[in-house]
Amino acid sequence: MKDDIIYLDNASTSFPKPETVYSETDTFLRKWGVNIGRGENRLEYEAASRVLESRRKIARFFGIKDYRRLVFTCNATLALNLALKGGLKESDHILVGPMQHNSVMRPLHALTETVSTGELRYDGDGLLDLNSLEEQITPQTKMVVINHASNVNGVIQPLRAIGRICREKDLILLVDASQSSGSIPLDVEECNIDLLAFTGHKGLLGPLGVGGLYVGERILLNPIIEGVQALLLN
Ligand SMILES: Cc1ncc(COP(=O)(O)O)c(C=O)c1O
Repeated sequence: MKDDIIYLDNASTSFPKPETVYSETDTFLRKWGVNIGRGENRLEYEAASRVLESRRKIARFFGIKDYRRLVFTCNATLALNLALKGGLKESDHILVGPMQHNSVMRPLHALTETVSTGELRYDGDGLLDLNSLEEQITPQTKMVVINHASNVNGVIQPLRAIGRICREKDLILLVDASQSSGSIPLDVEECNIDLLAFTGHKGLLGPLGVGGLYVGERILLNPIIEGVQALLLN
């Protein structure tokens, strides 16, 4: 980094990364940087065991009981697209927090002909108004989407209370934890989160091009991409 730059845009992506990120990436690419699940050789087994170790660690980090419910993606944008386009059906109604990121709003916009959306209400402090959440639920409501921490004003939503209501009303809770992952602890079981989208390149201090989606046991997603098994299931 040039001495005359003081980088403050960590909400966009954290920079610079810890030294170990550079050294581990270099080691991985030089020693085991091969496709996994596509052949049978020692390098693949080495690479696969590192991917498995990462999945286990990330699952523990978010309180995910079964690491197989964790999907690696190339960013939170893909994770959110998978959750929304793969999780919603024709005529579903979905309640969305105000000020969501474009990676939520644009997939929803693409779904306007299929699903209907309602905007949740926030109080004067930018927190979700829990009473109005209950009032806005209709028999068609299938999902609630909200970010954990806002990229607009930094407000942290009361996910435990939101999750409790969603579970009581049998709604799917999709949380966008892009801004909070690595900065604010989050446990999917404690908050009754069904779908958790996160990115690796902000508070988790990883490189660009990594993210993930937790898919809870109650959820069966329709695939929106075919033929890239390695991307989604590794
Ligand atoms: C709240 C929020 N959601 C989603 C994203 C998208 O993250 P990614 O760059 O991993 O696609 C961002 C990135 O700025 C964000 O701030």
